[in-house]
Amino acid sequence: MTVLPSAAYLYERVRRVIPPIEWPAFSNDIEAILALKRERNAVILAHNYQTPEIFHCVADIVGDSLALARRAAETEADVIVLAGVHFMAETAKLLNPDKKVLIPDMEAGCSLAESITAADVRLMRQRYPGVPIVTYVNTSAAVKAESDICCTSGNAKAVVESLRVPRVIMLPDEYLAKNVAAETAVEIIAWKGHCEVHERFTPADIRELREGNPGVVVLAHPECPPEVVAEADFSGSTAAMSDYVGREKPARVVLMTECSMSDNVAVMHPEVDFVRPCNLCPHMKRITPANIRAALAENRHEVRIDPGIAGPARRAVERMLAI
Ligand code: 13P
Ligand code: SF4
Repeated sequence: MTVLPSAAYLYERVRRVIPPIEWPAFSNDIEAILALKRERNAVILAHNYQTPEIFHCVADIVGDSLALARRAAETEADVIVLAGVHFMAETAKLLNPDKKVLIPDMEAGCSLAESITAADVRLMRQRYPGVPIVTYVNTSAAVKAESDICCTSGNAKAVVESLRVPRVIMLPDEYLAKNVAAETAVEIIAWKGHCEVHERFTPADIRELREGNPGVVVLAHPECPPEVVAEADFSGSTAAMSDYVGREKPARVVLMTECSMSDNVAVMHPEVDFVRPCNLCPHMKRITPANIRAALAENRHEVRIDPGIAGPARRAVERMLAI
């Protein structure tokens, strides 16, 4: 394996958010990952919640769930490493059935994906005959396979309205469903799933932040409870929040979402002051430079989807991407 002379120049990208004392813990793995990617014609897709040394130093493609799905569909790499959670790797595999898709830790799950099973979706269909089922991408392939179409936080309203019906079922995130319902005339039947990271934010948190940080602009992810979104200045997917900061350049901002997001966006906008109350996603944090290196070196862990599930699940994802 060819090892780069040094990954030290990469430290310049992240020096504002990674103390010098922590960098040696990552630099060897980063050098090895860069070499392995070239050797294997591999691409690393990283979600916005990945830590800065992954997001800024080894990822080839970064973004929200929608961007990762779109870019996964376009890649010409032989190997895809998904630095994110399991449902994201499954989506990449659905769109690349003939490629090797790796996730560095199989246990990188999601409380939303855990909140619903394929049998639950079948029961909803029986209970509401003829009502289309829109499923958030934060679900297993088996759940997607029972659905009519997928959505992400970046396109949920557009997907719901694209169906041109008065009523849809939207699974499994209750808060995303309610936040979309507040913006559309379509009636939405929700499920009771919640994101364990975003459900912890409260309107009181926002009021306290505004008191302690005069003029702060509050951006909230739509997986937050509707009362939180109502108190925020803006709500959107992780990509929409990042774009907002780039476009509006607020003097001071708080992102009501996962912790690494602020680090990653702060690196790109040194002039913006980020206030940092955040919640960690333990699933996203299972991915590290060390296990990305092991994934590439040892094909750990290959994502496989039952062909009987993959066909209908792929259709639900592709229908979303066509919008
Ligand atoms: P987006 O990046 O699509 O906004 O999703 C947030 C999330 O929680 C993914 O797990
Ligand atoms: Fe799931 Fe929430 Fe973690 Fe995203 S942040 S992976 S929705 S638990």
